[in-house]
Parts: sequence; C-alpha cells; structure tokens
Amino acid sequence: MREIILTPNEKQVRFFESTAKYTAYGGARGGGKSWAMRTKLVLLALNYKGIQILLLRRTLGELRENHLFPLLKMLKGIATYVSTDKEFRFPNGSRIKLGYCDNENDVLQYQGQAYEVIGMEEATHFTERQFLALTECNRISGNMEDKTFKPRMYFTCNPGGVGHDWVKRLFIDRNYRPNENPEDYCFIKSLVFDNHFLMKHNPEYVQTLMALPEQRRKAMLYGDWNAFEGAFFPEFDYEKHTCEPFPLDKNWIKFRALDYGLDMTCCLWLALPGDGRLIAYRELYESGLIISEAAKKILDLTPKNEVIRYTTASPDLWNRRQDSGKSGFDIMTACGLKFLQKANNARITGWRVMREYLRGSLPDGTPKLTIFRNCKNLIRCLPLLRFDEYVKEDAADTPHEITHAPEALRYAIMSREPAYPKPAPPFTGSVYTFDKPKKEEDDYEDYIEY
Ligand SMILES: Nc1ncnc2c1ncn2[C@@H]1O[C@H](COP(=O)(O)OP(=O)(O)O)[C@@H](O)[C@H]1O
Ligand SMILES: [Mg+2]
Repeated sequence: MREIILTPNEKQVRFFESTAKYTAYGGARGGGKSWAMRTKLVLLALNYKGIQILLLRRTLGELRENHLFPLLKMLKGIATYVSTDKEFRFPNGSRIKLGYCDNENDVLQYQGQAYEVIGMEEATHFTERQFLALTECNRISGNMEDKTFKPRMYFTCNPGGVGHDWVKRLFIDRNYRPNENPEDYCFIKSLVFDNHFLMKHNPEYVQTLMALPEQRRKAMLYGDWNAFEGAFFPEFDYEKHTCEPFPLDKNWIKFRALDYGLDMTCCLWLALPGDGRLIAYRELYESGLIISEAAKKILDLTPKNEVIRYTTASPDLWNRRQDSGKSGFDIMTACGLKFLQKANNARITGWRVMREYLRGSLPDGTPKLTIFRNCKNLIRCLPLLRFDEYVKEDAADTPHEITHAPEALRYAIMSREPAYPKPAPPFTGSVYTFDKPKKEEDDYEDYIEY
C-alpha cells in the first residue's frame, strides 16, 4: 500500500470535479495544468474499474518528459507500465494509454478503439480535424464495469498554436454550431498565480514570464486568448481562392514548384494565364519517397503533352551527400526531371509577396491566386499556418507537416517575382531572443543566385 497525499489548488479541484463532456483547463503557463491532467486520470483509473483512458500529447518527446516520467514515479507499486504498449495497467483492469499524434493522420490509429476518457494535453497543438477524429473513439468500452459512466474529454491548453482557433471558439468565445450543445463545454482558467506549489518553490518562474515580449507575456502570464494573432494568412478564403478544376489553355506557361523531403514531398503544378494570375492546378503530396521515386512520380503525374518550362525547388536539393557525392539535383536530373531551378528561399520576403497575391485581384475582381480543389493538401494547410511566436513576420515551422505545401507555393510565387531577386535585408525589428534559435538566417543560408 502506498499513500499519496494530493494538495490540489482551488482551480485544480474544479477541474477534478467537472463531469462535463468536454472540460478545458488552461490559459497561462505554469498553472499546474499537466499535474492536474495526470492526477485526474489516475484518480479516474483508481475509482472506476476497467476504465480505458487515453492521454495524448502532440509528440513522443513531450509525452515522455511531461507525463511518462512523472507517472512512473507516481504509480510505482500501484500500476504496471508496459512499455511496448505505452500503457499503465492497474490491478482493477483500468488502463491509461499514452499516445501522441506527430502527424495529422497519426490520430487515425485510435479509430475503432474505445476510451471512456481522453486527455488531450496542449490541445492548441492539435488540429480541429484531429480533435474531431478523437471524439469518435470517446465512448464506453467493453471493459468498463460502470456502464452509466458518461464518456468525456479533458483538455489543457495555452493560447497560440495550430489549434488556437477551435479551442478558442469552443471554450472562450463559446460560439457554437447547430450540432454542438453549449452545456457540454466547460472552461476553467488557470494562471501561474493559482499554482501555490510553483509560487512557493520557484517564484523566479513568474519573473521569467514577466520578461517575455509583450504579446507572449499577455498570453502566457495572463492567458489572454486575443494576444495571439491567429492564422498566418487570414486573407485565404476558400470561396475566393479555390475553384473546381477547368481545362487549361495549352498556351499558358506551366511550371512546377517542389519542396522535397523524405518526410513529405510536395510538388505543385502551376499555370500562368498571362494576365497576372497564378493557378495551382495539381499537387503531389506524399511521404516516404526517396529522391528518384519522387522524380518518377512527378514525371508520371505530368501528361506527355504538357510542357513544363521549369521546376523551382528548395535549395537544399543542391546539397551534396557525403557518401555518394551526389546531390538531389543530380539524382532528379538523371531520372529525367530537367530544368530544375533553385528557389529563392527568402522566407519573410516570400511570405510577404504571397500575401500580396492572396489579397490581389485583377481589375474585374478575379483573384490573382486560384487553387484547383483537387490540390487538397495545399487548401488544407494554407489556413492552418500560424505566426512564428518569435520572429513576427515569419510563419511557424510547427507542426512541420503543414508547412510543405505553403512553402512550395512560396517558391512558385518567388520564381515569378524578378523584383525580389535578393533576400530581404537583415531583419532586426522583431527578433526575440527568448530561448529559441533565430530562424531568419534561412534567408541567406540557402539562397544561391541564379
Ligand atoms: N497541486 C500540486 N501539487 C504539487 N505540485 C504541483 C501541483 N500543481 C502543480 N504542481 C507542480 O508545479 C509545476 C508546474 O505545473 P505544471 O502542471 O507542469 O504546469 P503547466 O502544465 O500548467 O505549465 C510542476 O512541477 C508540477 O508538478
Ligand atoms: Mg504543461
């Protein structure tokens, strides 16, 4: 027998007591959210025989640091950890499974499973699609003894991140769609000042939060959900910028833009009607392709009679591999993918020009940028892109999965902009130095004139 004495603060007690279908605990940093989540799930496992619980974070690293190690300590002698399944098994048949959803589709592995309780840590790091997919597995499982238990989800969250908008809509703005019941959503705001443990043992932490740049301080210290700007491209409008595919004029100039990566290859096909418009009409979006396979797919997807002037590609494709001495460019060229050009990778300038394209229209109102609806990933990822929290004019590079398609589009646009042949001048304005490496060097590192 081990006795654990818990001393939750007032907000944590409210979190423990909530039986709403969806309870979010959050706001600022250091409020004791992760502790509350962990502890709540353990209490449920101990109190309800056979309950199945899923605890999620976005990445495996975060999960281990934030929950696995503290849980191993807390549950020593109480539950057994089975590392192959990443789960704690309790003698009463209850189970806490630890999971992560690094990629958008990782969430699908839980479909078909049943968990009475799902804990989503740092919910704003998850997309709305992931959240909705998880609600489908939030149901009574066969193991649970008490069949009257109402399945529920618990969330912790800070403002900012890819899921800022859906979390804010459901729990802060309380702006519901017809199929959503307002009573299902409960929000408990926590601030670092509520965390007596931290205030007593580590009061300097508040000083650290105080020293943050203003926007971040507002969000992280006071839990201000309006302090963060939401979408990086609020200009993107599905109705305005997308259309059903139509036949392209064969005289229009066509080219491709490629962001190659083994984790994800994104290639876009673009057409120029000659009136200032740019049309993205086809995409390849696939993970796990080695360079030669990517080249082959790109060629296979291009009809024989379609003339492609050039393919602008991320400059790292020209890096030589140490083992073979060959670059991605060499391999792709050998595979028959000709006329590859190094993209201008000036990030901040590139995003700025892309914004002008999204805002722009011809005198008759036709938008400057049109995306065919078959370019599903480009259309999915553009509105998900967020502001970098540290370099104000840049887009965040996390979650990494959503950056590939927008980056390919940025290369495409920059290849049409002779007015911007050089990277932007050194960026000095809004670079914050708080515990994150600066990213603006990218503007120079990879840029090679052509
Ligand atoms: N009620 C509590 N009893 C003991 N320690 C606590 C309690 N609440 C929070 N803590 C500790 O305070 C620190 C910050 O809490 P944490 O849950 O990580 O905050 P957050 O996730 O909100 O940033 C951690 O070391 C955590 O273990
Ligand atoms: Mg936490």
